[in-house]
Amino acid sequence: MMSGSDLAGPGWGDVFGQAVVLRTARLVLRQVTETDGAGLLDIFGDDRVTGHYAWDTFTSLAQAQALAERTAAQFRQGEAVRWGLVPRGGGRIIGTCGYTRWNQENRFAVIGYDLASAYWRRGLMTEAVTAVLRFGFGRMTLNRVEATVHAGNTASAELLSRLGFTCEGRLRGRVLHRGAFHDVDMFGITRADWLAGDPAREAGRAR
Ligand SMILES: CC(C)(COP(=O)(O)OP(=O)(O)OC[C@H]1O[C@@H](n2cnc3c(N)ncnc32)[C@H](O)[C@@H]1OP(=O)(O)O)[C@@H](O)C(=O)NCCC(=O)NCCS
Repeated sequence: MMSGSDLAGPGWGDVFGQAVVLRTARLVLRQVTETDGAGLLDIFGDDRVTGHYAWDTFTSLAQAQALAERTAAQFRQGEAVRWGLVPRGGGRIIGTCGYTRWNQENRFAVIGYDLASAYWRRGLMTEAVTAVLRFGFGRMTLNRVEATVHAGNTASAELLSRLGFTCEGRLRGRVLHRGAFHDVDMFGITRADWLAGDPAREAGRAR
């Protein structure tokens, strides 16, 4: 029988001790840093993006700069990892994707993502989330990835379903958002689901 330590995965420093850059067909994913304020304002200064978010649409660079600094600090402190999505040709970040929490004891993580609305519906977040899942189930040795989605956030729910997540249930009245309580749907994908989604992943060759 396996003991708990046999099942233990790598720690934060093992995985993120050096910069982790992920590449997809059209994107480079690199850590969000303190320099990303302007890019974050492009993303979150837009009601279409923040419509299902806990915070209000940004109206100033200072708000976006504060988020950039908080995100970079969370990474340094080993609390969360957020990649910025940069088009292959370079420029500002146009979105973000990452793990807002990594529970190492139970080997699950919580994923989050957002994209500037000018880039929606081109398959870009499908690329980014796929890369982040591959890294999660690979290098981070996760057994499960989960996401919570406001009921009614069709774009996010559809994206996750298309990627192989299952909607596991509705958490009623779970979040207080802009003066009202909202239901939230819990989505999850297990390592077994992920491997079943593409035979090449089992052999560790998935791209
Ligand atoms: C959710 C979000 C990241 C999707 O990014 P995207 O790059 O446009 O997604 P993709 O182009 O990869 O879409 C993949 C599939 O998801 C579904 N989808 C995406 N946007 C959709 C929308 N507005 N309505 C319905 N389905 C949608 C479609 O099935 C789509 O495939 P198709 O275009 O071939 O039909 C983007 O809408 C966004 O940033 N929303 C605001 C922030 C947010 O809600 N984040 C998630 C919080 S839980």
